[in-house]
Amino acid sequence: MNKIVILTDLHILSESHQRIIGLDPSQRLNQAVAHIRRYQADCDLVICTGDLTHRGEVAAYQRLREILQTLPCPYRLLPGNHDLRENLLQVFPEQARDEQGFMLSHIDTPHHRLLLLDTLRPTPGTFGHAHDGHLCRHRLDWLEDRITSSELPVLIFMHHPPHPTGFAAMDAIALANGEDFYTCVLRHPDKVRHLVCGHVHRTISGQHRGLSFSIFKSPCHQMPMEFHDQDASLSVDEPGAYGILLLTPLSVLAHTEDFALAGRNAPVRGYQPEGGQQFPEKP
Ligand SMILES: [Fe+2]
Repeated sequence: MNKIVILTDLHILSESHQRIIGLDPSQRLNQAVAHIRRYQADCDLVICTGDLTHRGEVAAYQRLREILQTLPCPYRLLPGNHDLRENLLQVFPEQARDEQGFMLSHIDTPHHRLLLLDTLRPTPGTFGHAHDGHLCRHRLDWLEDRITSSELPVLIFMHHPPHPTGFAAMDAIALANGEDFYTCVLRHPDKVRHLVCGHVHRTISGQHRGLSFSIFKSPCHQMPMEFHDQDASLSVDEPGAYGILLLTPLSVLAHTEDFALAGRNAPVRGYQPEGGQQFPEKP
């Protein structure tokens, strides 16, 4: 079995006094990493699916690097709409990129091929923020090639969901050409098994056009359950979380861990309700 931890939407800030809705993203991420060291020390890989920083400054990536180096296993990074690819790669020069500078890479595990797909709209060498995602022809061709050449079932990791999630504000800044993504993926319905995204700051699972997906919460701020609000910056202080994928030859299991609750719900063995009765008596 392989265990992969998913950290998404970290939104690290460049200075320690800064906050997002009163929360310190670095403190939250440190808490997540401590929890991973304690409970997921056997994980094989951590994948961070974008929005690594809030504003893309070099100083923020440097703060992020200091935290991630305390993980118990290797990590791979993907950019989100709050990232600047060039600054990210300046601080993490060892992270994979292709010959054109896109953060595209694949990892073959014993049972699956993992495809890490860069959905950032600005292309390498151009600066600026665009909150929706886009896959240019180059990246779609790369996706097609890596699926076709794989002898293993494929899992895809990317920041922007390529389909609606029910949140109007986030659906407006999803992957702009999700149709092109699904046209490619659905040419290989028996090979592409699961999709993992970030961006929404909410735990969402389901399927779209037959392809199952998981979206995980942030370690920091979350999206409130306001499906029709048009403000994509709307946030709420709910417990921070990360995802855990357990991969076997026959299955992809997606768990979510609200690590910020861990202090309150520490496991207790042999619990029995007060009064010593394990089960309520039948009426
Ligand atoms: Fe985000």
